[in-house]
Amino acid sequence: MNTSAATLTAQDVHRIYKIGGHELPVLRGLNVEVAPGEKVFLCGQSGSGKTTLLYVLGGLEKPTSGDVLVHGKSLYHGSAKERALARNRTMGFVFQHYFLLPELTALENVMLPAMIGGRQAEARARELLDRVGLTPRLDHLPTELSGGEQQRVAIARALINDPGILYADEPTGNLDSSTGSGVMDMLMSVVAESKKTLVVVTHDQSLAKLGDRLLILKEGKLVAG
Ligand SMILES: Nc1ncnc2c1ncn2[C@@H]1O[C@H](COP(=O)(O)OP(=O)(O)OP(=O)(O)O)[C@@H](O)[C@H]1O
Ligand SMILES: [Mg+2]
Repeated sequence: MNTSAATLTAQDVHRIYKIGGHELPVLRGLNVEVAPGEKVFLCGQSGSGKTTLLYVLGGLEKPTSGDVLVHGKSLYHGSAKERALARNRTMGFVFQHYFLLPELTALENVMLPAMIGGRQAEARARELLDRVGLTPRLDHLPTELSGGEQQRVAIARALINDPGILYADEPTGNLDSSTGSGVMDMLMSVVAESKKTLVVVTHDQSLAKLGDRLLILKEGKLVAG
């Protein structure tokens, strides 16, 4: 694959944590290319570094060495401010623990990333919440929503700025299996409709059939699943 055509490229990424004088190498010379619109599922044992890798790909955690290119542009050679801007404009995140702001309603949580970017987005936030089936819950606070509903709000929030890339870390990890599979189906269908590039971390390799490619993180590198 031509690197310049890839949406996402990790180049010789190392991430070493230093704890009490010891070095813990988690990512060890990892390379990957993700094509535009590709849906990649990322599996691996607990502690293998999946969250670390997702954060590195998403500009949230600087690699010890190596780089990540988004649409051919370096994420880590620029300033932290440029990186934050790239994140806000081109990436959306869905986390296992939702991370909704507790004092904001569902609608306000979804609007927030747009407002940070200086955009008005109430109409689009309403549309997205409707798309995930939450029109009757617009004015609910997170504590007034079920886990599955909170994750649907988080999916709508991740899409508000219409990012090209969506990252999800164990998006169904806190949900029972039937709620989880509903949320996963919802995620896959909104991503397919809007032709987004998706990288999903999951413990459940059986979910990988929903994607285009399964990658397994092993000894700090990615291998085909
Ligand atoms: N900030 C940190 N400082 C030190 N060590 C860390 C830090 N973050 C993660 N680690 C260590 O790095 C390794 C990989 O962690 P990571 O959270 O990426 O794994 P994971 O594959 O996402 O695991 P899980 O499936 O349990 O979520 C673990 O051994 C963890 O203890
Ligand atoms: Mg993790």
